[in-house]
Amino acid sequence: MPKFLTLDDLELESKVVLVRVDFNSPVDPETKKILDETRIRAHGESTIKELSEKGARVVVLAHQGRPGEPDFIPLKQHAEALERILGKPVKYVDDLYGEKARNAIKALKNGEILVLENTRTYPEERKKKSKSEFVRSLAELADIFVNDAFAAAHRSHASIVGFTALLPSAAGRIMERELKALSRVLESPEKPCVFILGGAKADDSLKISKYVLENGIADTVLTGGLTGHLFLVATGVDLGKPNMELLEKQDVLKLTGGIKELMDSYPGRVKVPKDVAVEADGKRRELSVGELPTEYPIYDIGTETIEEYSRLIEEAKSIVISGPPGVYEKPEFMKGTKMLLEAVASSEAFSLAGGGHTVAAIEKLGLSERISYISTAGGALIEFLMGERLPGVAALEAAASRKQA
Ligand code: 3PG
Repeated sequence: MPKFLTLDDLELESKVVLVRVDFNSPVDPETKKILDETRIRAHGESTIKELSEKGARVVVLAHQGRPGEPDFIPLKQHAEALERILGKPVKYVDDLYGEKARNAIKALKNGEILVLENTRTYPEERKKKSKSEFVRSLAELADIFVNDAFAAAHRSHASIVGFTALLPSAAGRIMERELKALSRVLESPEKPCVFILGGAKADDSLKISKYVLENGIADTVLTGGLTGHLFLVATGVDLGKPNMELLEKQDVLKLTGGIKELMDSYPGRVKVPKDVAVEADGKRRELSVGELPTEYPIYDIGTETIEEYSRLIEEAKSIVISGPPGVYEKPEFMKGTKMLLEAVASSEAFSLAGGGHTVAAIEKLGLSERISYISTAGGALIEFLMGERLPGVAALEAAASRKQA
């Protein structure tokens, strides 16, 4: 578990606290309305609420979308959602560090909450510039920096890594909770430990599998979704035109050499589907791997695979699931995702799930309460599972060690 300060270590009353959260939410490209408030609720009900209740003057920093993309919108709606979630007034200014923002910060009273503008409206935010004008001018007005944005901690952006050098800094409750849950599976997982890797992108699957096998974290890696397809190809299987084309499009076929090497080094520890479900004339049809290639698109793992994977999940004491094993959005192809997630939910093991599609599937199936920990992160979680050091976490650790020195 990384070593950093938490909200328990700081006197918060009357202090101006800059709290970096990850409010980045899916947005309807037409109406520009936020489609899901999970992240706003998570930060609001924990860190922001606690800061406000402890009498801090809370200044919320967050990003939404990427400049030029349809989801790049101001944080007004986020502030309104936060106000609704907390049941108390939340101020908002459409300014990040100009006069308007600075005056609003100076006017804050104990316990009040202010949301500033989308940090990415500031062009330097996404560059590795910690001593930027934005950071300097806000740090001047603040007493404490809290980073609660685990889901954005893989970005070396000014609002993530800039303030820790200038202000006493601590992790917020979501940051703390995420790292605690992840450390539980990555540092000392109860064995057997099973990783289930699926989803519609396969580019990180080799790095994650390699990291968790080489470091004695996972006993078994179960592959499904596009990861399953790629690993099958690495064993010499031709999946058929539509499926091979998809992998080609993602430019992941170059990974097959490394995957084969990994599978040879850890015999029997990386499982690939034994059978698959294809969409033939609008219907689900199952094929054994021996029956491939197919002219139809593969959308799910087959029944034999589901049975084998479910058995391994049942025996596990730690489970990580990142990416659904099939295209569960199509009702005929939900079976693999449903059965595996139900097996995870029924297990006594410590289970950790992450990634937007996995979390959406868990919610759709009504299983949220039965998974031990659901991460709010996407990219940051993937990088953590690959063994990468996250700049936002490293900055908090550096700040804590400076304080002790
Ligand atoms: C996320 O949603 O994964 C984080 O908010 C990071 O967003 P980004 O990929 O646009 O940096």
